[in-house]
Amino acid sequence: MLPTTTDDLIPGDLIQLDHQATTPCHPLVVQAMEPWWQQEWGNASSRQHRLGLTAAAAVASARHRLASHLGVEDDELIFTSGATEANNLALLGHARARAKAEGHCGHVITVATEHHAVLDPMHQLQREGFELTVLRPQDNGLINANALSGVLRDDTQLVSVMAANNEIGVIQPLQALSDVCKSRGITLHTDAAQAFGHVRLIRSDLGCDLISLSAHKLNGPKGIGALVKRRGVSIQPLLWGGSQEQELRPGTLPVPLIVGFAAAADLAHADLETRQHQLSVLTNQLWRGLKSRHPQLLMNGAHQPRLAHNLNITVPDVSGNRLHRCLKRFLACSSGSACSRGKPSHVLQAIGRSRVEAEASLRLSLGRTTTATDINRAVEVIAACISQLDGSQ
Ligand SMILES: Cc1ncc(COP(=O)(O)O)c(C=O)c1O
Repeated sequence: MLPTTTDDLIPGDLIQLDHQATTPCHPLVVQAMEPWWQQEWGNASSRQHRLGLTAAAAVASARHRLASHLGVEDDELIFTSGATEANNLALLGHARARAKAEGHCGHVITVATEHHAVLDPMHQLQREGFELTVLRPQDNGLINANALSGVLRDDTQLVSVMAANNEIGVIQPLQALSDVCKSRGITLHTDAAQAFGHVRLIRSDLGCDLISLSAHKLNGPKGIGALVKRRGVSIQPLLWGGSQEQELRPGTLPVPLIVGFAAAADLAHADLETRQHQLSVLTNQLWRGLKSRHPQLLMNGAHQPRLAHNLNITVPDVSGNRLHRCLKRFLACSSGSACSRGKPSHVLQAIGRSRVEAEASLRLSLGRTTTATDINRAVEVIAACISQLDGSQ
């Protein structure tokens, strides 16, 4: 018999469905990084001895492999501490450089469903005198080219639209958006922290000028990412103090993390399509299992195109607090971005959910090691918690 209350469930290992917050480092990534902590501890900027040259060669190889996954030149990649820094460097760095060249602060555009790592630097630009438009997406989370065209102005300098959403998983039509920007000389930035390694991102297909990446969303180490900057796109540095990364991001390069980032990207791209397929089978199993037990459940975000490992649902008429408290013993998932400090999701509210609905929502994100058994257990646990809370048990 199917369990209808959580009393019938035995808490086992926590079911891990929070892989969009972060992922575990892959064992082969840990192995690839290992020599670079102790044996090969050189500074990649020390060009006068073997230790430094060996470190520089490791960084060059990592840079080349990462650049090839995106179809860009090696010198278009600037290592940063992650996607937050890459977004800040792209948005503040480019807008300020352009304002300096053009003699005035122009107009910048982003979307209400972006991560705070984009929204906050955009609001900083607004405080500095730039005019900001925050576009509301359609209720399915997608932005279309007409909506973007509708808010462009003669002085629009910069547009930032994420590749894949960190909460609802929808994949934005970047190519169509870039056509709109290109014809008007507007720079297009994309935060691809959630997309890189999960969908193929080739820069010439996307048409973006600036792309932010992070390693820890693809089974790589935390604390490393990159900004991909098309040649000729100007940015001002945010930091000063060294000539690394073409003087755009000074500081000693974290060689082990860079090696780990490239190893993770190699692994992610080696089985990308097979993994996407397996994950979409599991995600569908999760959605169908939940929906068959509780037909009132709502899926957030367009069904397609979306990340294969994301499912975001709203549970109508239950208290979000009680739902999360009930699930906590069994399941690691989240109600929104890990960086949203427990507030109801601004993403769900931007696509039309009420505050109460946003609170009673679950972001379920699968990973490389998620199994069909995990999904069956997750269906049982979530369905039983809902039954308990909505009185249908
Ligand atoms: C869409 C998006 N952008 C940026 C970030 C921040 O990335 P990082 O942790 O590498 O700074 C995240 C992480 O949650 C994210 O999901």
